[in-house]
Amino acid sequence: MQLIDGHWQLAGHDVEDLADQHGTPLYLYDEQTIRRQVKRFRDAFSAFDHRIHYAMKANSNRDVLSLMKKLDLGIDAVSIHEIRLALEIGFDSHEILFTPNGVPFDELEQAIELGVRLNIENLSYLDKLGEAYQGDVPCTLRVHPGLVMPGSPRDATGWYQRSRFGIGGDQISEALRLIELHQIRVEGLHVHSSSMILDEQVFGAAAAVLLDLARKLPSVRAIDLGGGIRPPYRAEDDHPDLDALALSLTKPLEQFENETGRSLQLWFEPGRYLVAESGTLLTRVHVIKQLGDRIIAGVDTGFHQLLRPKLYDAWHEIRNISNPEGSQHLIDISGCLCEEDDLALQRSLPEVREGHLLAILNAGAYGYSMASTYNSRPLPAEVVL
Ligand SMILES: Cc1ncc(COP(=O)(O)O)c(C=O)c1O
Repeated sequence: MQLIDGHWQLAGHDVEDLADQHGTPLYLYDEQTIRRQVKRFRDAFSAFDHRIHYAMKANSNRDVLSLMKKLDLGIDAVSIHEIRLALEIGFDSHEILFTPNGVPFDELEQAIELGVRLNIENLSYLDKLGEAYQGDVPCTLRVHPGLVMPGSPRDATGWYQRSRFGIGGDQISEALRLIELHQIRVEGLHVHSSSMILDEQVFGAAAAVLLDLARKLPSVRAIDLGGGIRPPYRAEDDHPDLDALALSLTKPLEQFENETGRSLQLWFEPGRYLVAESGTLLTRVHVIKQLGDRIIAGVDTGFHQLLRPKLYDAWHEIRNISNPEGSQHLIDISGCLCEEDDLALQRSLPEVREGHLLAILNAGAYGYSMASTYNSRPLPAEVVL
């Protein structure tokens, strides 16, 4: 977003005009930002034979999905509904990797019928898959990372170890027994380490875990390092060093190739990295009130449309579009739900008055896709620019 002659512009459009045209609350996505992020990702891993499956849970807007298809990405899906949507958009079933957990096995059977690839994260599904298909359906295995890496805001006491996803290190021998028993062809090994990767060594460390297992499974031809790369949310945040992440993979992969003579494809499942920065949530201020020393701006969105501040204490930059050059004051921004619905506290913004338009930045991932109709409020409009 750029300030040009006192007016905020987004992708060549005047932001106030967009709000007038489409109303508020309104999600905007800038296509060029998504293209830039896809290119950055591809460039960083260009030394490897790699494939990107976009984690569509981050943003499943149809136009965003069509763009990902145009850019030749595959899909990481987590429900049969996501699979159906991806197929409708035109993704080939073989380009979709389904990672279910806790869903009825029937959902896996539907996915198999549609020709979608399966990523199995527990022994129960693995056994059922083997019993039902006697090895006719290949799969990827999701392994619990079992790593303790610094970085994620939630990992201080072992976020990685508490994660409930994947087949645990102590269950690998049982998984190998089931694979042998049912003659299951395991084509890939998968790990999703975190949703906020900041540590440059995390891919290399995760790859080492997967490659150890790949030595025991000669049918494995790909390792999937999941998603989790965090773009900057604040101006002062570091940009993730994708080159360093890529570099951390070189040694374990070279060692594996030298030892086994096998070369594996690398798969990734980024969501947030590709779409977070593309998104802006526009909202109108309808009430200004003062309570004690607090000034509160009441806006026409809330945690039903952007849950991240409530759920994760996430921080999103906010701009006053209507008064870019006003004098700064401290203000709380509260949503319109009948709940404690603070979107931001004690922000320094150019003076906010009733009727002003605010922009909540970096809202392209886990924004609309986590929205609900709580308080019977309709979902907001979305526009791809
Ligand atoms: C298995 C898996 N892959 C990929 C992702 C995408 O993560 P991110 O959007 O942080 O890149 C997630 C997020 O929860 C996930 O669980």
